Amino acid sequence: MLERWRDALPVGDATPLVTLGEGGTPLVRAERVGRELGIELWFKCEGANPTGSFKDRGMALAVAKAVEQGAHGIVCASTGNTAASAAAYAARAGVRAVIFHPVGAVADAKLAQVRAAGAELVPVEGAFHDAFAAALELAERDAFTMVNSTNPFRLEGQKTAALELIEQLDGPPDVLALPYGGGGNTAAYAKGFGEAGTPLPRILAVEAQRRPDTIASAIRIAEPVHRAAVEAAVEASGGAIASVSDDEILHAWRRLARDEGLLCEPASAASVAGLPALAREGERVVAVLTGHGLKDPDPGARR
Ligand code: F0G
Repeated sequence: MLERWRDALPVGDATPLVTLGEGGTPLVRAERVGRELGIELWFKCEGANPTGSFKDRGMALAVAKAVEQGAHGIVCASTGNTAASAAAYAARAGVRAVIFHPVGAVADAKLAQVRAAGAELVPVEGAFHDAFAAALELAERDAFTMVNSTNPFRLEGQKTAALELIEQLDGPPDVLALPYGGGGNTAAYAKGFGEAGTPLPRILAVEAQRRPDTIASAIRIAEPVHRAAVEAAVEASGGAIASVSDDEILHAWRRLARDEGLLCEPASAASVAGLPALAREGERVVAVLTGHGLKDPDPGARR
């Protein structure tokens, strides 16, 4: 991916081209769900990335830049996917990774990915923001590079999803829907569309109504760190922020599996659950399915 989008990224001769083959994910037409909503609906299947989530795009660049700058290790706080991605790319690049996570709140498969890659897991009593504070402290104390989305290279890498979409659709969609946790991904897409110089799609950022304890564990984030950027992107594009209930998320998640054959994470299904809030008849809409369903396969069981 770093090679493919080199001209759009801060990649120089000294930047190691760390890659696991991220990017180039499928764009799949959703006939049934689209017909029911009266729209031309497409799914951007980011779960097809190497560690099963969209995080790999930004992590490839963030880890490459950390290595370029001489870091011995990387650190992050995570609800699971950033962790799995950081662990894999650190292994690839041959640097240490330390992962802080809210105890009891991360899906088992994601922890398994981290352990398999040999990264260090530090459970933190509390919520995501407590894990974030702990990660930041280590980064400041021990000169580890923080690879949360507050690292600008993460967003730079993630913006390639927007560039890719424009190529796949031969232009931007009318509406782009995506789940809204911390908001980094929303900010990254807005950056990508902005830099491509095409008209901005109306951006629909969909958050869980029950942010602090939603069943969609990947977006269980009480206070989004990129709130201002998300609000600006939504306003600039004529979009909206929608809040959906856990029942609506689960309903959309089941429909995607049963009617489209696509198993995504519950958090990813939030993007589809929110569509009625913004998409109008006949429009071309892309919903970003941010993570693979095998990462969090049985959310109903926890109800
Ligand atoms: N979807 C999935 C599957 C995620 O893992 C995340 C965030 C989001 C959506 C929300 O993206 O934060 O950029 O608005 N996961 C982070 C993590 C918090 O630690 O893996 P966002």
